[in-house]
Amino acid sequence: MLNIQSLDVYRGSTHVLHDISLQIGRGESVALIGANGAGKTSTLRTISGLLSPRGGTITYRPSPDADPLALHNMKTEDIVAAGVSHCPEGRGVFSQLSVLENLNIGAFLRNDNEGIKRDLDQILTLFPILAERRGQAAGSLSGGEQMMLAVGRALMSRPKLLMLDEPSLGLAPLIVEQIFKLLQEVNETGVTILLVEQNAVMALEFADRAYVIETGRVVMEGPSNELANDDNVRKAYLGG
Ligand SMILES: Nc1ncnc2c1ncn2[C@@H]1O[C@H](COP(=O)(O)OP(=O)(O)OP(=O)(O)O)[C@@H](O)[C@H]1O
Ligand SMILES: [Mg+2]
Repeated sequence: MLNIQSLDVYRGSTHVLHDISLQIGRGESVALIGANGAGKTSTLRTISGLLSPRGGTITYRPSPDADPLALHNMKTEDIVAAGVSHCPEGRGVFSQLSVLENLNIGAFLRNDNEGIKRDLDQILTLFPILAERRGQAAGSLSGGEQMMLAVGRALMSRPKLLMLDEPSLGLAPLIVEQIFKLLQEVNETGVTILLVEQNAVMALEFADRAYVIETGRVVMEGPSNELANDDNVRKAYLGG
Protein backbone atom coordinates (compact mmCIF):
# COMPACT_ATOMS: atom_id res chain seq x y z
CA MET A 1 0.00 0.00 0.00
CA LEU A 2 2.80 2.42 0.88
CA ASN A 3 6.32 2.03 -0.41
CA ILE A 4 8.99 4.48 0.70
CA GLN A 5 12.34 4.16 -1.05
CA SER A 6 15.58 5.92 -0.11
CA LEU A 7 14.03 9.02 1.37
CA ASP A 8 16.36 11.94 2.08
CA VAL A 9 14.95 14.96 3.88
CA TYR A 10 16.55 18.19 5.02
CA ARG A 11 15.21 20.71 7.49
CA GLY A 12 17.02 23.91 6.74
CA SER A 13 20.59 22.81 6.19
CA THR A 14 20.25 19.80 8.52
CA HIS A 15 20.03 16.38 6.91
CA VAL A 16 17.34 14.75 9.11
CA LEU A 17 16.31 11.61 7.18
CA HIS A 18 18.98 9.46 5.55
CA ASP A 19 18.05 6.92 2.93
CA ILE A 20 14.87 5.80 4.72
CA SER A 21 12.99 2.88 3.14
CA LEU A 22 9.86 1.36 4.55
CA GLN A 23 6.85 -0.58 3.35
CA ILE A 24 3.33 -0.91 4.70
CA GLY A 25 0.93 -3.58 3.53
CA ARG A 26 -2.80 -2.98 3.26
CA GLY A 27 -4.55 -3.59 6.57
CA GLU A 28 -1.32 -3.77 8.57
CA SER A 29 -0.45 -1.83 11.67
CA VAL A 30 3.15 -0.69 11.60
CA ALA A 31 5.08 1.19 14.29
CA LEU A 32 8.00 3.54 13.91
CA ILE A 33 9.91 3.77 17.15
CA GLY A 34 12.93 5.82 18.13
CA ALA A 35 14.29 8.34 20.62
CA ASN A 36 13.77 12.13 20.68
CA GLY A 37 14.96 13.73 17.48
CA ALA A 38 15.33 10.42 15.60
CA GLY A 39 13.19 11.67 12.71
CA LYS A 40 9.82 10.06 13.40
CA THR A 41 7.74 13.23 12.99
CA SER A 42 9.79 14.26 9.97
CA THR A 43 8.94 10.93 8.32
CA LEU A 44 5.19 11.40 8.85
CA ARG A 45 5.33 15.02 7.72
CA THR A 46 7.10 13.98 4.54
CA ILE A 47 4.47 11.33 3.77
CA SER A 48 1.78 13.99 4.34
CA GLY A 49 3.47 16.39 1.94
CA LEU A 50 4.30 18.91 4.66
CA LEU A 51 8.03 18.42 4.02
CA SER A 52 9.52 17.91 0.57
CA PRO A 53 12.12 15.19 0.22
CA ARG A 54 15.44 16.04 -1.41
CA GLY A 55 15.61 12.49 -2.72
CA GLY A 56 13.70 9.22 -2.78
CA THR A 57 10.14 8.22 -3.58
CA ILE A 58 6.88 7.63 -1.70
CA THR A 59 4.46 5.46 -3.65
CA TYR A 60 0.93 4.85 -2.42
CA ARG A 61 -1.79 2.68 -3.84
CA PRO A 62 -5.23 3.73 -2.48
CA SER A 63 -6.75 0.36 -3.46
CA PRO A 64 -5.30 -2.86 -4.88
CA ASP A 65 -6.48 -2.10 -8.41
CA ALA A 66 -5.74 1.65 -8.35
CA ASP A 67 -2.78 3.22 -10.12
CA PRO A 68 0.05 4.04 -7.74
CA LEU A 69 0.35 7.70 -6.69
CA ALA A 70 3.69 9.47 -6.23
CA LEU A 71 3.00 11.21 -2.91
CA HIS A 72 6.40 12.92 -2.96
CA ASN A 73 5.12 15.04 -5.87
CA MET A 74 1.68 15.76 -4.41
CA LYS A 75 0.17 18.53 -2.29
CA THR A 76 -1.05 17.76 1.21
CA GLU A 77 -4.73 18.29 0.40
CA ASP A 78 -4.52 15.84 -2.51
CA ILE A 79 -2.73 13.33 -0.26
CA VAL A 80 -5.54 13.63 2.31
CA ALA A 81 -8.14 13.30 -0.43
CA ALA A 82 -6.39 10.11 -1.59
CA GLY A 83 -6.96 8.59 1.85
CA VAL A 84 -3.88 9.39 3.94
CA SER A 85 -4.72 11.08 7.23
CA HIS A 86 -2.29 12.45 9.80
CA CYS A 87 -3.08 12.80 13.47
CA PRO A 88 -0.30 15.21 14.44
CA GLU A 89 2.10 15.40 17.36
CA GLY A 90 0.48 17.46 20.10
CA ARG A 91 -3.00 16.58 18.75
CA GLY A 92 -3.67 20.04 17.23
CA VAL A 93 -7.34 20.32 18.10
CA PHE A 94 -8.90 23.76 17.74
CA SER A 95 -9.51 24.60 21.36
CA GLN A 96 -12.05 27.42 20.79
CA LEU A 97 -14.20 25.25 18.55
CA SER A 98 -16.63 22.63 19.77
CA VAL A 99 -16.04 18.90 19.61
CA LEU A 100 -18.51 18.63 16.74
CA GLU A 101 -16.89 21.49 14.82
CA ASN A 102 -13.48 19.88 15.22
CA LEU A 103 -14.83 16.58 13.89
CA ASN A 104 -16.43 18.29 10.90
CA ILE A 105 -13.13 19.96 10.02
CA GLY A 106 -11.78 16.46 9.40
CA ALA A 107 -14.29 16.12 6.55
CA PHE A 108 -13.47 19.45 4.89
CA LEU A 109 -12.38 17.86 1.62
CA ARG A 110 -15.45 15.65 1.34
CA ASN A 111 -18.80 16.54 -0.16
CA ASP A 112 -20.65 13.24 0.26
CA ASN A 113 -22.98 14.60 2.94
CA GLU A 114 -24.71 11.28 3.56
CA GLY A 115 -21.38 9.53 4.07
CA ILE A 116 -20.10 12.29 6.34
CA LYS A 117 -23.17 11.97 8.53
CA ARG A 118 -22.79 8.19 8.70
CA ASP A 119 -19.11 8.44 9.61
CA LEU A 120 -19.85 11.07 12.26
CA ASP A 121 -22.45 8.79 13.87
CA GLN A 122 -19.99 5.91 13.77
CA ILE A 123 -17.22 7.95 15.39
CA LEU A 124 -19.54 9.20 18.12
CA THR A 125 -20.50 5.59 18.81
CA LEU A 126 -16.85 4.53 18.90
CA PHE A 127 -15.97 7.44 21.24
CA PRO A 128 -19.05 7.92 23.48
CA ILE A 129 -17.23 10.60 25.48
CA LEU A 130 -17.13 12.77 22.36
CA ALA A 131 -20.86 12.33 21.89
CA GLU A 132 -21.42 13.38 25.47
CA ARG A 133 -19.24 16.47 25.02
CA ARG A 134 -20.18 17.32 21.45
CA GLY A 135 -21.13 20.93 22.18
CA GLN A 136 -18.24 21.62 24.51
CA ALA A 137 -15.13 23.62 23.50
CA ALA A 138 -12.32 21.22 22.61
CA GLY A 139 -9.94 23.16 24.87
CA SER A 140 -12.00 22.12 27.90
CA LEU A 141 -11.44 18.40 27.26
CA SER A 142 -8.85 16.35 29.15
CA GLY A 143 -5.66 15.28 27.35
CA GLY A 144 -7.03 11.81 26.65
CA GLU A 145 -10.32 13.18 25.37
CA GLN A 146 -8.44 15.60 23.10
CA MET A 147 -6.46 12.65 21.75
CA MET A 148 -9.70 10.80 20.99
CA LEU A 149 -10.99 13.95 19.29
CA ALA A 150 -7.82 14.19 17.21
CA VAL A 151 -8.21 10.54 16.16
CA GLY A 152 -11.91 11.08 15.44
CA ARG A 153 -11.13 14.14 13.34
CA ALA A 154 -8.53 12.17 11.38
CA LEU A 155 -11.11 9.42 10.80
CA MET A 156 -13.62 11.96 9.44
CA SER A 157 -11.53 12.22 6.26
CA ARG A 158 -12.29 8.50 5.82
CA PRO A 159 -8.64 7.46 5.65
CA LYS A 160 -7.31 4.27 4.19
CA LEU A 161 -4.00 4.93 5.90
CA LEU A 162 -4.10 6.59 9.32
CA MET A 163 -0.84 8.00 10.67
CA LEU A 164 -0.58 8.83 14.36
CA ASP A 165 2.24 10.80 15.94
CA GLU A 166 2.75 9.83 19.61
CA PRO A 167 -0.87 9.29 20.65
CA SER A 168 0.28 8.20 24.13
CA LEU A 169 2.26 11.34 24.93
CA GLY A 170 1.40 12.85 28.30
CA LEU A 171 -1.46 10.46 29.03
CA ALA A 172 -2.01 8.21 32.03
CA PRO A 173 -1.35 4.48 31.41
CA LEU A 174 -5.02 3.57 31.68
CA ILE A 175 -6.02 6.16 29.08
CA VAL A 176 -3.17 5.04 26.82
CA GLU A 177 -4.53 1.49 26.97
CA GLN A 178 -8.02 2.73 26.06
CA ILE A 179 -6.69 4.67 23.10
CA PHE A 180 -4.71 1.71 21.80
CA LYS A 181 -7.79 -0.48 22.17
CA LEU A 182 -9.74 1.99 20.05
CA LEU A 183 -6.96 2.10 17.49
CA GLN A 184 -7.09 -1.70 17.35
CA GLU A 185 -10.81 -1.45 16.57
CA VAL A 186 -10.12 1.13 13.88
CA ASN A 187 -7.48 -1.19 12.38
CA GLU A 188 -9.97 -4.07 12.45
CA THR A 189 -12.39 -2.03 10.34
CA GLY A 190 -9.76 -2.18 7.60
CA VAL A 191 -7.87 1.07 8.16
CA THR A 192 -4.12 0.63 7.81
CA ILE A 193 -2.17 2.26 10.63
CA LEU A 194 1.28 3.82 10.81
CA LEU A 195 2.03 4.64 14.42
CA VAL A 196 4.92 6.78 15.65
CA GLU A 197 5.79 6.25 19.29
CA GLN A 198 8.48 6.81 21.88
CA ASN A 199 6.48 4.43 24.07
CA ALA A 200 8.08 1.36 22.50
CA VAL A 201 6.41 -1.08 24.88
CA MET A 202 2.91 -0.05 23.81
CA ALA A 203 3.89 0.36 20.18
CA LEU A 204 5.35 -3.15 19.92
CA GLU A 205 2.34 -4.62 21.70
CA PHE A 206 0.02 -2.87 19.29
CA ALA A 207 1.67 -3.17 15.89
CA ASP A 208 2.17 -6.15 13.58
CA ARG A 209 5.60 -4.90 12.49
CA ALA A 210 7.96 -2.14 13.47
CA TYR A 211 10.89 -0.08 12.29
CA VAL A 212 13.47 1.37 14.64
CA ILE A 213 14.97 4.66 13.58
CA GLU A 214 18.08 6.29 15.02
CA THR A 215 19.41 9.69 13.92
CA GLY A 216 17.37 9.60 10.74
CA ARG A 217 18.23 6.07 9.67
CA VAL A 218 16.32 2.79 9.82
CA VAL A 219 18.52 0.55 11.96
CA MET A 220 16.20 -2.39 12.46
CA GLU A 221 12.89 -3.74 11.24
CA GLY A 222 10.80 -6.84 11.74
CA PRO A 223 7.71 -8.36 13.31
CA SER A 224 6.94 -6.59 16.61
CA ASN A 225 7.34 -9.75 18.70
CA GLU A 226 10.82 -10.36 17.26
CA LEU A 227 11.90 -6.80 17.98
CA ALA A 228 10.44 -6.97 21.48
CA ASN A 229 12.67 -9.99 22.16
CA ASP A 230 15.80 -8.50 20.61
CA ASP A 231 18.52 -7.72 23.16
CA ASN A 232 19.54 -4.41 21.59
CA VAL A 233 15.95 -3.21 21.33
CA ARG A 234 15.27 -4.29 24.89
CA LYS A 235 18.29 -2.42 26.22
CA ALA A 236 17.75 0.74 24.22
CA TYR A 237 13.95 1.07 24.19
CA LEU A 238 12.28 -1.32 26.59
CA GLY A 239 14.20 -0.61 29.75
CA GLY A 240 16.41 -3.72 29.67
N1 LIG B 1 11.81 23.01 11.94
C1 LIG B 1 12.99 22.41 12.06
N2 LIG B 1 14.14 23.01 11.62
C2 LIG B 1 15.33 22.38 11.73
N3 LIG B 1 15.50 21.18 12.25
C3 LIG B 1 14.42 20.55 12.71
C4 LIG B 1 13.11 21.13 12.64
N4 LIG B 1 12.24 20.25 13.19
C5 LIG B 1 12.95 19.19 13.58
N5 LIG B 1 14.25 19.36 13.29
C6 LIG B 1 15.33 18.39 13.53
O1 LIG B 1 15.08 17.23 12.79
C7 LIG B 1 15.47 16.08 13.53
C8 LIG B 1 14.32 15.10 13.57
O2 LIG B 1 13.24 15.69 14.28
P1 LIG B 1 11.83 14.99 14.42
O3 LIG B 1 10.90 16.00 14.97
O4 LIG B 1 11.48 14.35 13.13
O5 LIG B 1 12.15 13.86 15.50
P2 LIG B 1 11.19 12.90 16.32
O6 LIG B 1 11.72 11.52 16.15
O7 LIG B 1 9.79 13.14 15.95
O8 LIG B 1 11.45 13.37 17.83
P3 LIG B 1 10.45 13.46 19.10
O9 LIG B 1 10.34 12.07 19.63
O10 LIG B 1 11.17 14.36 20.04
O11 LIG B 1 9.15 14.01 18.61
C9 LIG B 1 15.92 16.58 14.90
O12 LIG B 1 17.32 16.61 14.91
C10 LIG B 1 15.35 17.96 14.98
O13 LIG B 1 16.16 18.80 15.75
MG1 LIG C 1 8.17 13.77 16.99
